[in-house]
Amino acid sequence: MDDDDVSARKGSFRKFLEHLSGAGKAIGVLTSGGDAQGMNAAVRAVVRMGIYVGAKVYFIYEGYQGMVDGGSNIVEANWESVSSILQVGGTIIGSARCKAFRTREGRLKAAGNLVQRGITNLCVIGGDGSLTGANIFRKEWSGLLKELAENGDIDREEVQEHAYLNVVGMVGSIDNDFCGTDMTIGTDSALHRIIEVVDAIMTTAQSHQRTFVLEVMGRHCGYLALVSALACGADWVFLPESPPEEGWQEKMCVKLSENRARKKRLNIIIVAEGAIDTQNKPITSEQIKELVVTQLGYDTRVTILGHVQRGGTPSAFDRILASRMGVEAVVALLQATPETPACVVSLSGNQAVRLPLVECVQMTQDVQKAMDERRFKDAVRLRGRSFESNLNTYKRLAIKMPDDQIPKSNCNVAVINVGAPAAGMNAAVRSAVRVGISEGHKMFAIYDGFEGFAKGQVSPRGASWGTGASLPRLETWGRVM
Ligand code: F6P
Repeated sequence: MDDDDVSARKGSFRKFLEHLSGAGKAIGVLTSGGDAQGMNAAVRAVVRMGIYVGAKVYFIYEGYQGMVDGGSNIVEANWESVSSILQVGGTIIGSARCKAFRTREGRLKAAGNLVQRGITNLCVIGGDGSLTGANIFRKEWSGLLKELAENGDIDREEVQEHAYLNVVGMVGSIDNDFCGTDMTIGTDSALHRIIEVVDAIMTTAQSHQRTFVLEVMGRHCGYLALVSALACGADWVFLPESPPEEGWQEKMCVKLSENRARKKRLNIIIVAEGAIDTQNKPITSEQIKELVVTQLGYDTRVTILGHVQRGGTPSAFDRILASRMGVEAVVALLQATPETPACVVSLSGNQAVRLPLVECVQMTQDVQKAMDERRFKDAVRLRGRSFESNLNTYKRLAIKMPDDQIPKSNCNVAVINVGAPAAGMNAAVRSAVRVGISEGHKMFAIYDGFEGFAKGQVSPRGASWGTGASLPRLETWGRVM
């Protein structure tokens, strides 16, 4: 982009903001529910964008509890308040699960604390429960101010001046369970924590020829478990949205024993903490361990990752996602009118978009309803195309069809890596080889790129299903061919 382009874009952005003055306006920002890596980047973006457009921005510490308690929990922020926090996990303004805000009395106190500071724009960073609470608060706002005036806590002028509350949400949750957004703030970072652990577990499992059952978070959503299983080549995964069919116990044991027969020294099973069977009965990591031990006699351990998935430094993706959402959230607040419904800033494709909060919360609740009613195909569909595609890809790469079910093909297909090595090339090779085999093609690996091709360095017996396993593990840096 040359200088003229840059100045033109700056000019258009500045022009875009000209009529978006935040002068005289006050924005409150809070984080609520389970914390998530990237929340600080979102808070930083709201504060700095708010100040940039001339608004006052207030930290609301400890989530809704801080809004109810008021006092030193609601403090004006400045540009430096959010310095050096991009790389910090969690939330510097604290979070809480607040019972008081679930009562009208609590919301009345909260409204009084906001009006006291002239705050009529609220940015809530949290899960679907937190965002639902914000919408209830917004709908009750005028009645709450009327009651505050009747109680003599505020005067008529303040009721007029602060007549409307604008609300914008950003979904900060590692679960990625919010319908309407491709990713929620914190999910990518949590996935990094999970694969760090799984990669570490693989080396010790390899050493002792052990089976490991790893339980990951996600509440009632299987996204973390599914993508972790796909990213780590887990041998089996349990998800709430796609429970195993009847007789899964035997099928899983057969799969694990086939691995052992193929001299694979370890088995990795990933379980979502909300995993259920087709009768909605929980499937727990302990049950799975007991099954493997009693049926197969394998040395088996359970690792429950727990809150480590919510910790650590945010990934680059989450820092950028949260920063972009925070900027868009402030613009949404400034553009809101009394008729504008509460919105949630979401990621669609690679764009920050605004979606109606109520409808998104409803869609999210519809997924749970579908699972409760055992409409599991609906649940997968409602989780979105990306979830469905990840599930199909996992199944395709993890489950080798019996030879008699593989179609016949006369195709010979070779896979070659060329150019500089890049992380993930091995995953691509593994995927190509296994999809090719499942299509009936004879797959070959060409070693050392075009040079090796010229020298005839082609896998003589073709690449087998286990190629992804016999070659150094998928997480190997660079390429192995
Ligand atoms: O919603 C985020 C989450 O980490 C879930 O995955 C998990 O089930 C829950 O929070 C744990 O809640 P708490 O932090 O209150 O134990």
